[in-house]
Amino acid sequence: MDDIRFKEILKDCGLSAKGIGELNGLLLESRIELLNSVINFSRGDVDNLAKIKSCMENSANEISDAFYNRIAGIEELKEKLSADANLLEQLKLTNADYLKSLFELNYDENYFKNTIAIGLAHNILGVSPSIYIVLYGYYANLVSSFVLKCSQKTGLSLIDTLKNVNSIQKKLTIDTTFAIESYYKKSMDDNYKTEQQTLGMLMSIAEYKDMDTGNHIARVSNYSRIIAKNIGLDGLHQERIFYSSPMHDIGKVGIPDNIILKQGKLTEPEYEIMKMHCNIGYDILKNSNSPILKDGSIIAASHHENFDGSGYPFGLKGEKIPIEGRICKVADVFDALVSKRCYKPAMPVESAIEIMNREMQSKEIFDPDCFNAFFKGLDEIMEVKKGIDKNSPSAPADSSMLQ
Ligand SMILES: [Fe+2]
Ligand SMILES: [Fe+2]
Repeated sequence: MDDIRFKEILKDCGLSAKGIGELNGLLLESRIELLNSVINFSRGDVDNLAKIKSCMENSANEISDAFYNRIAGIEELKEKLSADANLLEQLKLTNADYLKSLFELNYDENYFKNTIAIGLAHNILGVSPSIYIVLYGYYANLVSSFVLKCSQKTGLSLIDTLKNVNSIQKKLTIDTTFAIESYYKKSMDDNYKTEQQTLGMLMSIAEYKDMDTGNHIARVSNYSRIIAKNIGLDGLHQERIFYSSPMHDIGKVGIPDNIILKQGKLTEPEYEIMKMHCNIGYDILKNSNSPILKDGSIIAASHHENFDGSGYPFGLKGEKIPIEGRICKVADVFDALVSKRCYKPAMPVESAIEIMNREMQSKEIFDPDCFNAFFKGLDEIMEVKKGIDKNSPSAPADSSMLQ
């Protein structure tokens, strides 16, 4: 009886299939397994708590009031809680509602929703993880003291009283896991949004300075993901390349305008300065903690390296060139060839492919695996190109792309 999985117990105690689905969406299977093996909340625990059910039900408001009145005095929370008079009352009510479900052994949708709401409230209030742990300890002690009181009132033996304290602490640990997971997910979402905004701003800078259009950036980004998929990189890696490849030329912000915006072919000294955009891009992005920006720094540094070692800035060869750079190179060169430039019309796809093939025969500038993956995805690449160009027609760009 005691080895029943806690999800089954929640189902027995009112959580519908929809609620179980939400729980599965919140917690990884491995976390659920961990709770089962370490906490082992069982049907026996539900039976223990049932013995003090009626006494505990009446304590929900009292516990909730005691908890929030105490934490309202904590320095870090005082300002936020006093700024909105309704907030504290709302928190008390949500918590009392949660406690009622907990003590009634009614673990239905409302119970689950309140558990998540408590986690989110901590996030919105800006409660740091360390304070969260302290508050959890205080909360668990407070609830346990009421369990002790109710067990005594109900006339339970010392052993049964201790069993009840143990059972309620197991249940609170499970519920706090739900709450902390929702708190953590909210933080991740917020960080992701901030990262997306940062990326958007970086892209604006790159487009502002460079004559390449946003379309070029969008196409290279999409083509790179298709190539990454076709060489067998995992989904997460494909996504990172999709988001980081648009930064390949961000270093051009550090190249003088008379070179970046020059209409004709660059002189040798100008070309040497232009080559520096790889190192500049790397320097701009290298210190970020964001995996996407870090990949962006790698791509910025390596997208002009050639597989045979004849590229720049470092003359890296073969697999010494990061895979992200080898992928972006194929996408970038192809798009440069088939795009209209101020000094040339857009080249037909067949001609571009002929040039790329010819180039590969004379010197191996592309990683052969990436090159083959590009051909394998050519139909999909052309579909993507059509979609992007239809939404916003391409404008002229500078000649540096081919250099
Ligand atoms: Fe470049
Ligand atoms: Fe480019």
